[in-house]
Amino acid sequence: MGEKRYYMSQTTILFCALAVIAIAGLVGLLCGILPECAEPIEATKPPPTEPPATEPPQTTHKIPKEIWEDLRLPTSLKPHHYEIYLKTDITNKIFDGSVDILFSCEIATKYIMLHSNALNIVEGSATLRNINGLEVPELSEPWLYQPNQYLVVELSDELTKGEMYEFSVSFGAPLAEVLMGYYLSSYTKNDEKRYLGTTQFAPTDARRAFPCFDEPAMKANFTLTMDYEAEYHVISNMPEESTEDLPDDWKKTKFAMSVPMSTYLLCWVVSDFVFKSGVTNNGVEMRLWAREDAIDFVDYALQKGIEQLDFFDEYFGIKFPLPKMDMIAIPDFSAGAMENWGLITYRETALLYEEGVSSAGNKQSVCSIVAHELAHQWFGNLVTLKWWDDTWLNEGFASYVEYLGADYSEPLWGMTDQFVARTLQRVLVTDSLATSRPISIPVSTPEEINQQFDIISYNKGASLMRMCSFFLGESTFQKGLKNYLEYFKYGNAENNDLWMFLSEAAEEDGLIIDVKQIMDTWTLQMGYPNVRIDRQYGSGPEFTANQTRFLIDPEGNTTTEYGDLGYQWYVPLTYVTAEDPRDPEIGGLNWLDPKTERTVALTNLDDNEWLLVNYDERGYYRVNYDAKNWDLLKAQLISDHEVISIASRSALLGDAFNLARAGALNQTTALDQTLYLVNEREYIPWYTVSSVTGYIDLMLSRSGAYGSFEKYMLQQVTPLYEDVGWEDTGTHLERRVRSIAVSFACGYGNENCTRTAIGMFKEWMDNPAKNTIHPDLKYYVYCTAIAAGGQDEWFFALEQYQATSSSSEQSNLRSAMACANEPWILSTYLEYSRDKDLIRSQDEIGVITSVASNTVGAPLAWDYFRGNWDYLFDMYGQTAFSFSDLVEGVTRKFNTEFAMEELKKFMVEHPDQGTASRTFVQMVEATQANIRWMDYHYDDVERWLKGAVPN
Ligand code: BES
Ligand code: ZN
Repeated sequence: MGEKRYYMSQTTILFCALAVIAIAGLVGLLCGILPECAEPIEATKPPPTEPPATEPPQTTHKIPKEIWEDLRLPTSLKPHHYEIYLKTDITNKIFDGSVDILFSCEIATKYIMLHSNALNIVEGSATLRNINGLEVPELSEPWLYQPNQYLVVELSDELTKGEMYEFSVSFGAPLAEVLMGYYLSSYTKNDEKRYLGTTQFAPTDARRAFPCFDEPAMKANFTLTMDYEAEYHVISNMPEESTEDLPDDWKKTKFAMSVPMSTYLLCWVVSDFVFKSGVTNNGVEMRLWAREDAIDFVDYALQKGIEQLDFFDEYFGIKFPLPKMDMIAIPDFSAGAMENWGLITYRETALLYEEGVSSAGNKQSVCSIVAHELAHQWFGNLVTLKWWDDTWLNEGFASYVEYLGADYSEPLWGMTDQFVARTLQRVLVTDSLATSRPISIPVSTPEEINQQFDIISYNKGASLMRMCSFFLGESTFQKGLKNYLEYFKYGNAENNDLWMFLSEAAEEDGLIIDVKQIMDTWTLQMGYPNVRIDRQYGSGPEFTANQTRFLIDPEGNTTTEYGDLGYQWYVPLTYVTAEDPRDPEIGGLNWLDPKTERTVALTNLDDNEWLLVNYDERGYYRVNYDAKNWDLLKAQLISDHEVISIASRSALLGDAFNLARAGALNQTTALDQTLYLVNEREYIPWYTVSSVTGYIDLMLSRSGAYGSFEKYMLQQVTPLYEDVGWEDTGTHLERRVRSIAVSFACGYGNENCTRTAIGMFKEWMDNPAKNTIHPDLKYYVYCTAIAAGGQDEWFFALEQYQATSSSSEQSNLRSAMACANEPWILSTYLEYSRDKDLIRSQDEIGVITSVASNTVGAPLAWDYFRGNWDYLFDMYGQTAFSFSDLVEGVTRKFNTEFAMEELKKFMVEHPDQGTASRTFVQMVEATQANIRWMDYHYDDVERWLKGAVPN
């Protein structure tokens, strides 16, 4: 159906033109009653798109008896403008207010139904008026249908189709303690506890702050007025229009009316924070806000933010539409950051960079997260998904272009290569489970919606965008994107819309390609292919390619609730050879179509020269070769690894180990690929090594082979370790690889490393005022010393944790405290994790999962998790990221039948698993795969390791 929409017939064009006129008329009407509506923003709005052929998920559940039983709002009422008035009393930790919602009646109805959750509705406050002064039906007292978080008003008669109404209601609530809706955050300044009120609405919590039509396609203009105590100030999406003093040391601020936007992107913050500011080349004022003690650490983000806002103006071909951009570091924040339009909120560690205290890794996260949230200002905010089914489009896209933004402002960081190790390879692991999910699935409840924010949406989404940009060519991809944004701006779209614009751009550039047909094979079914390459030696030269679905546990149960397309894909193949090792264009782009075998002729390749397919891992798939080609690749790596590109080296390691895990390749062949590591000095391949050997470490950690594994790892990493040393010097990538080198060296017991680390920590303990350990190594030094030490080291770390106001230093210490080896210390730490005066609720899950990642701590964390399930469920069971992280964290090491039984038993006893329900099922599969790994591969790996190290 997507095709039809854009091959516009004359009548469609006429319809669109009429729709534009109709909308302009409506705005005229709006302006009549809204004095601040000077610019008819909606007049330039594109026509609304036709509804998709596959209707939104209403159709997926049974027809409800009452309208409030439907999980989606009816389309009978359409909001146009919200006048929100709020009074925030930080001292008493409450807020109250009113909202006047201007809406049109699209279908005659006897109900006004909108979202509301955890709000007290003031009795008798609901009113309704007709904008044209016509009589309106009688209202019932609003009542709440809690299962769907609806506020329902029943009317004595129907509202009239085509008429505009204003519904008003008053409400109030305590500022929330959970980090959702309008909530309270706090910090300490001069030993005094200070508070702020801030919002987190995505994806379904604007309804906790005011009654609203809380669905992304229900866009409207918002005008906010705030009363607050005079010691604070307030910021929101739009610039402030006026502020006046009120009696008793209160103030009133009114904000400019917003552009048409979705409720989940609204934001306001009442705080005593301060800011630093700058202006972009295109004249947008950017202000960076933080608590006063941290304001000096916003400089880096301010500089990158300004650069990147200009970069995205250019990249998307549309100027950022708001006059200002605020970014603020919030002390208590559930996610990492949130792209509210014009007011981006961040966790402190995602925005603050403290020279000399924060690591190169912290710096990189700041740069990437800022880029990610800025990219959303266009992709997500200006053009919004129709419904949360397409969350992946939003998050995947931002997760792809964040690398482009970061690469633009930090060109020496190898960001495009980093994509492979940090984003692509991580999701290839999850997506090889039979219990993965298609990237595009129907969702309805807040719980299902929150579960959409997973690695599949983010990392697979990003990897598919990147693949698409490679097979179309970057400029064609960008052109399609620009047209898409221009067409849908201030409106909503779905993935078929994007495919259509990309196909059109390709056609304009002389490429006939049906993007939807290709991309459907990647988005409508889970998983990805394992492409098997067989070379014909002695003739040709040529190779054949075949695809099968890649499953990490081919013996696992593959029944699933989701559909598929036979698990065949349109696979874009690129390759390089020993003859042309760095030019993937030489071989061109070869499509491997579903259910076919592809033979590709090679020019000029000797039987004794290697072939490498999927250059720089541009495609979302794995590659397996015949044994001889694996040998040729290994030989090249050993003789001169730099002939093969950095990202391709990383790809070879990732593929070899995972193919071996799945039984598609010998463990020996995979392990052979690591022999060359004595010569590897690059961060990205080492990053991949740390994840693939991390898995083997996990499996062997309680087995007899661990000793040989430790020796082998040390043998391979020592040359790197000796090369990078302990000095705080070098490029960004050298700093990053130094962290890995020290982590491996100290982690696997290099004497020099542990001695140095313990000595440094001791020096710090002797003189707590002077910490000379350099930022990139802090965590590893703390961890090593705490692991080797006892209660003195641990309680010293805890004291430092409480003493510092630096969030990155706190984060180092918090993770390092989980490295203790004494069970009683770890148990104490787990108990402390729920003490809100010690550990912020945003960090609680992090404490539990870091204890779980310690071999001694793992069983303690699992027991703690089970023992405190009810509490943990109440606190985090509905959250987007934390709850599934928790479940994954405490079960990751499971590799025995006994652990499997415990896990299954727990699941049966706790059928309501909140936002972690899919993760639970995946962990059962992962545990099963781990058990099989021990059965099938343990002996081979042990034998190989024994042979690779001296006795
Ligand atoms: N839109 C998300 C934040 C979000 C999603 C908050 C769902 C609450 C529920 C934001 O753009 C995002 O993706 N944040 C990431 C960081 C990003 C750099 C990957 C996060 O919070 O981890
Ligand atoms: Zn995002």
